[in-house]
Amino acid sequence: MNKPVILTAPRVSSDLHIGNYFGALLPIIDMAKNHADRYQINLFIADIHGLTTPIDYSNVQNIVNGYLKTFVAAGIQLNHPSVHLYRQSRVPAISELAIILNNFAGVGELGRMTQFKDKSAKINADRISAGLFVYPVLMAVDILAYGASYVPVGDDQSQHLEFTRDIAIRINKRFDQELFTVPQDVVKQHEFFGKDQGLRIKDLLDPTKKMSKSDETGKGVILLQDDPKVATKKIMNATTDSLGKISYDPKNQPGISNLLTLLGLFTSTDLKTVVGQYEGETQYGQLKSAVADATEKFLTNFQNAYNHVDMHRVSTKLAQSEAVMNETANETLLRVQKAVGLR
Ligand code: TRP
Repeated sequence: MNKPVILTAPRVSSDLHIGNYFGALLPIIDMAKNHADRYQINLFIADIHGLTTPIDYSNVQNIVNGYLKTFVAAGIQLNHPSVHLYRQSRVPAISELAIILNNFAGVGELGRMTQFKDKSAKINADRISAGLFVYPVLMAVDILAYGASYVPVGDDQSQHLEFTRDIAIRINKRFDQELFTVPQDVVKQHEFFGKDQGLRIKDLLDPTKKMSKSDETGKGVILLQDDPKVATKKIMNATTDSLGKISYDPKNQPGISNLLTLLGLFTSTDLKTVVGQYEGETQYGQLKSAVADATEKFLTNFQNAYNHVDMHRVSTKLAQSEAVMNETANETLLRVQKAVGLR
């Protein structure tokens, strides 16, 4: 029997920051470490999805390779035979399946997707692409082509997962056969992965907001590629409060709580221990210096690992994984083509 499949893809964007790293990438890598012996792990770069909103085309290869390097620098197990690393666009059956599945998706349901509404609200109407509109269909195919059961989803993607289930169930019913494995529902996903998903690092200047690269000044955000010295300045300038006493209290002391969280993450120490060390102290400057030092060390080590990633090894892994993925996705495509009468 084949192992059940866990599948995930980080959102593709340039300029990864520490919020992406600790909130999205590391959990994926931990998940792969914990589950690779009993599950097949499909980890891919959704590069075609990256084209659904305006992007600098000349930078796409850089972004994709940057992701791959980041995964390797963060410790993904390239040697594990059950961990697959691949690019969406290198599995042509995915695109073909998406074209076919478009015909089973309703304009009404696609128009109700929150991500579509949010993203399209931000861009000029003439630039809202049909690609953005059918984004959920491509995502459904990403999951269904490989029969994945488990997909860790944050709140922003749970509607897309429900859509994936809907379209799979609909098509299975229509053709009265199990063309697709229906992935587990959102509740089961949370049970499986734990609800700890989606750790949110806050913006340094406005710690009530989550850290995001769309911060205009760049001073509230630490990019993985920031010069470590620049990053320490950003920490020293982080917004705190005037209570003058350290405690972990995200509601009343969001800035201090964020710094405590960061210190734990950067030093791989659990939050309780860090809080225990600083609780009740009155000097915010000391905490900031400790976080700044830890930030500098973390970035220096990370960037060193990143710059030494062996891209030959990565290419070999991609070639192996992409061969396996093509085989599986082609089988699914053939099944679907037969069902809809194309073969
Ligand atoms: N839509 C996901 C995001 O923005 C990325 C993604 C594309 C994905 N295809 C997927 C995630 C399939 C999980 C499964 O985060």
